[in-house]
Amino acid sequence: MYSDRINALPPYLFAAIDEARDELIAKGVDVIDLGVGDPDLPTHPHIVEAMQKAVCDPGTHQYPSYAGMPEFRKAAAEWCRKYKGIEIDPATEVLSLIGSKEAVAHIPLAFVNPGDVVLYTEPGYPVYKIGTLFAGGEPYPLPLKAENSFLPDLDSIPEDVLKKSRLFFFNYPNNPTAATADMAFFEKVVKFCKKHDIIAVHDNAYCQMAYDGYEAPSFLAAEGAMDIGMELYSHSKTYNMTGWRLGFAVGNKDLIKGLGKVKSNVDSGVFDAIQIAGIAALSSPQDCVNETNKIYEERRNALIEGLTAMGLEVKPPKATFYIWAPVPKGFTSILLEEAGIVATPGVGFGDAGEGYIRFALTKPVERIKEAVERMKKLQL
Ligand SMILES: Cc1ncc(COP(=O)(O)O)c(C=O)c1O
Repeated sequence: MYSDRINALPPYLFAAIDEARDELIAKGVDVIDLGVGDPDLPTHPHIVEAMQKAVCDPGTHQYPSYAGMPEFRKAAAEWCRKYKGIEIDPATEVLSLIGSKEAVAHIPLAFVNPGDVVLYTEPGYPVYKIGTLFAGGEPYPLPLKAENSFLPDLDSIPEDVLKKSRLFFFNYPNNPTAATADMAFFEKVVKFCKKHDIIAVHDNAYCQMAYDGYEAPSFLAAEGAMDIGMELYSHSKTYNMTGWRLGFAVGNKDLIKGLGKVKSNVDSGVFDAIQIAGIAALSSPQDCVNETNKIYEERRNALIEGLTAMGLEVKPPKATFYIWAPVPKGFTSILLEEAGIVATPGVGFGDAGEGYIRFALTKPVERIKEAVERMKKLQL
């Protein structure tokens, strides 16, 4: 019944975890779910109010423009200038997105021919691989290891793979490892991509979730990056807007045009009222982001304290709302069955995630403290 493309998809590990969790809940267990990377905090009120007003205006009810409202693209470019220090032309170098996920899935369709290799970091967001497979490309994972600070070793890629490589997906601050990258790494990526004629796609979905004064840089701020790259931004995590489906791509105008060509053939843009709410998010003072980060920081500290007390080796991450911890074999099941805590086994993000677990800081600090108390009682 299904296409070869669908039949070739790897089994969806998260569905099995959800099933096990739901079974425990049905038995009356008080489950603490730190599995999914979906903010538990509501969208900020000024954004909701902008949407309420916009949705009542019949002018927003028709098909939106493919590239995004000029005002949205202008707000996105202005945000990039203000918070990332990059100059973007709103007319040609910005594209609205229905969340960054669709861009990750559509980018290979725009640039990858069957047999072309797509490089991506692993453990990583599963769509880099799936989008590549859907386009007939060959996924080539670059393992992220603790000894390399979870940065890929670009020098390890064999020459025959490089010859066929067309695209490189990378993501810092990183899901799931919570690692960050500095400008020196981004500059290395630019040189590497230019040398081997590879398109660079930096997925910057977590750039505003940062702590201890850390500011995540833009890849496009690296010299020459605009010649070969694009960057994906998302309202989802920054403004607690995962359900709204909004983001934007910025970068080299020919790359933006290529992605736009795919999108104009498969979707019809973002609902104008959502874009108007998105403008309110981007253009208002960013205090709401700082307040949210303070909440995550408190949760992070509570969980790190607990994991450290258990003897696990974890450093407080500077960004993202994830904790990536090396754990003994079978830990995820013990955690769920004996402590009623859901977390994601690292292998769910690719083979390179084996031996790790990812906690998402998506529950109030009291629940995280409760999780810590339960974990301390485990016999490992
Ligand atoms: C690394 C990464 N990229 C992209 C996305 C997709 O985000 P959205 O489509 O909500 O913008 C996610 C979501 O979890 C993610 O973790």
